[in-house]
Amino acid sequence: FARQSAGLKQSTLSSESSSTYQAPLSEITKRRNLAIISHPDSGKTTMTEKLLLYGGALQQAGAVRHKAEQRATQSDFLAMEQERGISISSTVLNFDYQDYTIRLLDTPGHQDFSEDTYRALAATDQALMLMDAAKGLEPQTRKLFEVCQLRSIPLFTFVNKMDRPALSPYDIMDQIEQEFGLEPHPILWPIGDGDRFKGVLDRTTNTVHLYQKAEKRGAKAEATEVALDDERLADWIGDSELYEKLMEDAELLNEMIPPLDMERVMIGKQSPLFFGSAMTNFGVQLFLDHFCRMGTEPLGRETSKDILITPDYGEFTGFVFKTQANLDPKHRDRLAYVRIVSGKYEKGMKVNHSRSKRQYNLAQAQALFGSDRTSVDEAFPGDVIGINNPGSFAIGDTLYSGNSPIAFPGIPSFSPEKFAYIRAPNPSDYKSFKKGIDQLLAEGAVQALRQRNDENGPLLLAAVGQLQFEVVQARLLSEYKVDSKMEPLGYSLARWVDGGWEAVEKADKDGKLFGIMIVQDQWKRPVLLFRNDWKAASLAEEEKYLQLKPWSA
Ligand code: G4P
Repeated sequence: FARQSAGLKQSTLSSESSSTYQAPLSEITKRRNLAIISHPDSGKTTMTEKLLLYGGALQQAGAVRHKAEQRATQSDFLAMEQERGISISSTVLNFDYQDYTIRLLDTPGHQDFSEDTYRALAATDQALMLMDAAKGLEPQTRKLFEVCQLRSIPLFTFVNKMDRPALSPYDIMDQIEQEFGLEPHPILWPIGDGDRFKGVLDRTTNTVHLYQKAEKRGAKAEATEVALDDERLADWIGDSELYEKLMEDAELLNEMIPPLDMERVMIGKQSPLFFGSAMTNFGVQLFLDHFCRMGTEPLGRETSKDILITPDYGEFTGFVFKTQANLDPKHRDRLAYVRIVSGKYEKGMKVNHSRSKRQYNLAQAQALFGSDRTSVDEAFPGDVIGINNPGSFAIGDTLYSGNSPIAFPGIPSFSPEKFAYIRAPNPSDYKSFKKGIDQLLAEGAVQALRQRNDENGPLLLAAVGQLQFEVVQARLLSEYKVDSKMEPLGYSLARWVDGGWEAVEKADKDGKLFGIMIVQDQWKRPVLLFRNDWKAASLAEEEKYLQLKPWSA
């Protein structure tokens, strides 16, 4: 999706459309959405809780629960997520803060669910990269950063856990710059670390914020604000070494750091940088204040015909980025999550479905707050709504009102690295097994592969990580009451053959596919499975006509 900087609105279609409704500008400009990406354990759950605390949303939705009692926040809701303390499915948390309406898109931190994260990133306009101050960049931070870069997503960076012994902030900045080619621009700068972490300097106002640890875990931190040039500052800090270091750092940063350039932030080249501690709330509210002001309002999306649809385009447009069944096991319902790009959702409105060319009546959309849902009568660009999915909506589908056909490009799948046959050992379970598998495939929980032209042959599942298989088995059991057996295969890489079946046949005839498994995906496109990277790379190099691709678009 092409991105544009906020304010540069130029909906190519708005002049031609039979425009019925334009979302009020204020509904667009007050919205901010954000996805948090991080390596597991960096504090994403804690940060989410604290953002909700400052947004007043936790009081509404129930008290903050201690993890020892229940290792889950409002955004973890499937039983398995709670048992394992991992966040599997991305959900949306909505809250108002000051004059802003914030949509927090939760993303799973575990690498086995990168694909779900990627889809959530398709629906957001900016992301927060959370890092552990003692650890710096970690493997999953790297992987998620690459995903953000693929989409040129503007990134804010929050270095968390400053209340523990931390790396030097300069070293952290170096890591970000050297490894990611991303220029960090410190907005909040730490004063000390570990037990000596006193607070932060806000470089935009030259104000020092000194914190006191909140007595209660869920309480907001009390802060004292002092100007950097206030004579009393040294006394307030109460540590002459830290005071001198702060004055030195402030001067050095002013000389060394190029000015903040929001245009570079918008294209993912510069990243506003914050230091703090989510657990003790140091710097969290300041981050939120800056984010609301600096972050972008919802952006437009480009269609597959390269037409930019901006939020002020007069018709409703949106795309499905996630589908999920059985959110509420009592109701056995299925939801498609739609990111609204333009116009306004109104209860009962008719929309066109680009893939099937059919019309649907969106009788009841829901706003989501973790596992809680409320019915909404209207929703605006940047919002995510959950619509009832009778099985018609798939990930990547476009919905639109009006007469001009619109189709946003699909969301590509990640290249799977794990492969296993799955079957129901008990033949009498077959019907439920098929129903469950079909649903999980529609959700994109895993991908399905089969032997060529063998619709009823053994079902081969493909996933990015092993945990995805475990989720499939756990959900088949809990939601469809079916036991399943999996039999792993020793392949570790899949490549789609853009050259088509003819190219596969030629390579096979020439004896080039020895030791490689030939299968087809759900759309009957040829896929080759390899045992190692090296084999895939040499085949791609030697047999160019195959046009091997790591993605299925
Ligand atoms: P995640 O969602 O990214 O996996 O991280 P999560 O918030 O669950 O945090 C992981 C651990 O790090 C938790 O400790 C949490 O309390 C701690 N943590 C988060 N932010 C900070 C911080 O700013 N400073 C410090 N010192 N610790 C932080 P835990 O022992 O796993 O759980 P708990 O018993 O403390 O809840």
